[in-house]
Amino acid sequence: MSFGGVVAVDDLSISLQRGAITGLIGPNGAGKTTAFNILAGSQLPSAGQVLLEGADITALAPHRRAALGIARTFQLAHEFARLTVVENLMVAADLQGGESVFNTVFRRGVYQAAEREVYGRARELLGFLGLDRLALEPAGSLSGGQKKLLELGRALMREPRIVLLDEIGAGINRTLLGQIADLLLKLRRERGITFCLIEHDLDYVSKLCDEVFVMAGGRLLAQGTVAQVRADERVVEAYFGGGKYEDAALRSKSGATA
Ligand SMILES: Nc1ncnc2c1ncn2[C@@H]1O[C@H](COP(=O)(O)OP(=O)(O)OP(=O)(O)O)[C@@H](O)[C@H]1O
Ligand SMILES: [Mg+2]
Repeated sequence: MSFGGVVAVDDLSISLQRGAITGLIGPNGAGKTTAFNILAGSQLPSAGQVLLEGADITALAPHRRAALGIARTFQLAHEFARLTVVENLMVAADLQGGESVFNTVFRRGVYQAAEREVYGRARELLGFLGLDRLALEPAGSLSGGQKKLLELGRALMREPRIVLLDEIGAGINRTLLGQIADLLLKLRRERGITFCLIEHDLDYVSKLCDEVFVMAGGRLLAQGTVAQVRADERVVEAYFGGGKYEDAALRSKSGATA
């Protein structure tokens, strides 16, 4: 994927195993978010393919991919601040048949039934996320961490099979971080959801991920378990001098000071 002269993602090849939690890590500007944009369909790659269970979905628009079960969260939470928390989940749902001008005007019953169903699902999801007591608050009043949970909830509203999480843990406290990890493991266990997550905290990644891909300068640098890539000199080198990284092991290995 290139933007003018900048090659943001260069000859990258990654695969996500069904039911696994895969990590995508690397220093700032490595191309991680761009890779997610390509997977989710918000950016058409200059070259290359995206395959879902063997089918080429490279040209499919984001909403078509969402219909196939691919959901994502954004690095910066993008809630509708003035809508309530539960409404934020409801707009993320696909009301399909319910939400058309025709149905709204001529088939109010159909529309209202669909809306009730979505409302019920949204309340249930808020319970799962531990946000139910905030359901009727404006989303803009949530804390940063609660907004991240809401962002996860928005991705889950359409009952996806694959969820791409872009730094869902960034800037939130340890307790909430642990809570999100538990939720992801539960979703994987109970619903078989496949996850791919971008995170900078390698301890967190090592607790959650079966396999990680390491990117630097747009390229794939290494892949394996967290322990394997942590021991890889090229990975240590790529992190050295890069912006934020929170891995004490890498820091000491690369000789950087905290
Ligand atoms: N729309 C765009 N136009 C031009 N350059 C872009 C665009 N999007 C990304 N880039 C560039 O591509 C490179 C990779 O950016 P990307 O956001 O994918 O990195 P990242 O790994 O997600 O970084 P971070 O950890 O800081 O979120 C950067 O050099 C960035 O400036
Ligand atoms: Mg990013």
